Amino acid sequence: MTIELTWLGHSGFALTIDGHKVLIDPFLSGNALAPFGVEAVEAGTILLSHGHGDHIGDTPAIARRTGATVVSNVEISNWLRDTHGLEDVIGINTGGGVRLPFGRVELTIAHHSSGLPDGAYGGMPNGILIFTNEGQTLYHAGDTTVFAEMEWIGDEGIDLAILPIGDHYTMGPAKALRAINLLRPKVVIPMHYNTFDAITQDAAAWAERVARETAARPVVLEPGGTFSL
Ligand code: NI
Ligand code: MN
Repeated sequence: MTIELTWLGHSGFALTIDGHKVLIDPFLSGNALAPFGVEAVEAGTILLSHGHGDHIGDTPAIARRTGATVVSNVEISNWLRDTHGLEDVIGINTGGGVRLPFGRVELTIAHHSSGLPDGAYGGMPNGILIFTNEGQTLYHAGDTTVFAEMEWIGDEGIDLAILPIGDHYTMGPAKALRAINLLRPKVVIPMHYNTFDAITQDAAAWAERVARETAARPVVLEPGGTFSL
C-alpha cells in the first residue's frame, strides 16, 4: 500500500493513506508557499502539532467544510470546540495515541511553545507519529529542536521523518542532521523553511549533507510536490 504525500509549504502536508485523506498542520491562507487555496483541500482527518497560527492554519474552515475529525492535544481540541464550534475533535496528550481508520496516531514530545492565535493556552507542543494499518511509520516533528529522546522515537523504525530546518523558530540544518542520526529514518523530508525571510535555507545544500553524513535518503519537495512511500 502506498502513501502519497503532498507538501503544502511550511509544515503542511496532505497525505493519502490507503484512500484516507489526512492533513497535517494545514496552513494555507497567509502562506506564500501554499500551492493551492483552502477550498481545494480534502480531509477526513486533520492532525495538529501545536497551537501556533502557522500550524492551526485553516483548520476551522477546512474541518467545517469537510467534516474532518481533528486530532490534537487536549487544550487545542477544547479550544477548537469552544471557540470555533467544531464537534468532531479528539484531544489526546503526549505519549498517548488514538486509533483512526488508517492507523494509530500518537503525539510525541517537542521542545517549542504552543500558544493559540487568540492568546489562549495551547498546552504543550507535539510531534506526530503515524503507524499505518499497513505497517509504515511516519514522524512529523512539528516545531522543535533536536532532543536526545529522538533515539527512542527512532526505535519505532521510522520509514519517513519530516523535520524542520528553518532555524530561528525551530532547529536549523545542522541540528536537523543530528536529529536524523538519532531517528535513523529511511527517508527524510525538510519543512518549515523559506516561508518567511527569517527561516530562509538552502534545502539542496542540506540534502547533500544528509546524503553524505547520514544513512537517510533526503527528498526535497517543491510546494505542491508529491512523494510516494
Ligand atoms: Ni510554532
Ligand atoms: Mn511554526
